[in-house]
Amino acid sequence: MSEQPGNGGGPGRPGVVEASVASAAVGPAVALALQRLDLAQVEREYWEQDEFLFLPRLLDPPTVARLLEDVARLEPAHLNRNYIPRHKKGGSVSHFAIAEHGSALLELYRSPALRQLLSRLARAELHLCPDDDPHACALYFYTQPGDHMGYHYDTSYYKGARYTMLLGLLQDSSSRLLCRLHTRQPGRAPRDLAVATEPGGAVIFNGDKVYHAVSPSGAGERRVVFTMEFVTNQEMGRAKRALSNLKDAFAYFGMRALWPSHARPRRRSQPTA
Ligand SMILES: [Fe+2]
Repeated sequence: MSEQPGNGGGPGRPGVVEASVASAAVGPAVALALQRLDLAQVEREYWEQDEFLFLPRLLDPPTVARLLEDVARLEPAHLNRNYIPRHKKGGSVSHFAIAEHGSALLELYRSPALRQLLSRLARAELHLCPDDDPHACALYFYTQPGDHMGYHYDTSYYKGARYTMLLGLLQDSSSRLLCRLHTRQPGRAPRDLAVATEPGGAVIFNGDKVYHAVSPSGAGERRVVFTMEFVTNQEMGRAKRALSNLKDAFAYFGMRALWPSHARPRRRSQPTA
């Protein structure tokens, strides 16, 4: 599958060099894990659930351990916490920080094998989000009492559809990913799921179809999730770009998301849980 301009991160991007050298084991491990899937079965299940799929043990513990090394490096220095009454409370690390300090996470996001699987599921060619999107991939932390996310769709701000993959990294928590399927499917009653995103488990869905939330964390609990966004079209209109900038700054990554160190024309996506 070909990739669009602006995704590959060519020479001069420190994060890309780091990804290709320091975490070479992640890409092959991901490809191997995907080879073990029964593609026909998971594709059927994805569509039977109105474009939703849960793969409880997609990645093995050694691969998750490599990803958690990045989490341990990123959390102390790059976590931004937000509280929006009656909508969300929690911590986030942006794509920008991951690109510079999370080589294994970035390699997972950029895995061609992963994008090939998701494209098959979606029945459309999916692309990475542009490099200047702070939500292209991100870490979410539900690590303080009451951390949560209200119900929402991952509606695309891009000129096409947006697909989300959530990978569980830490689930020492009673907090769950709450998903409501079939909400926009005529003739089907909604179906509610409460998913424990255990380390290595993945959830894949069409952001316009799955209504989802995160239930509150309790005291002393920790839940960490890696979110990855894929789009059918990397273009975004100016008005939506401006709105997306503000949402990212106030609801997720702080004002630094507006002025990344490698500032360039900005194209963004809407938040995910
Ligand atoms: Fe979401």
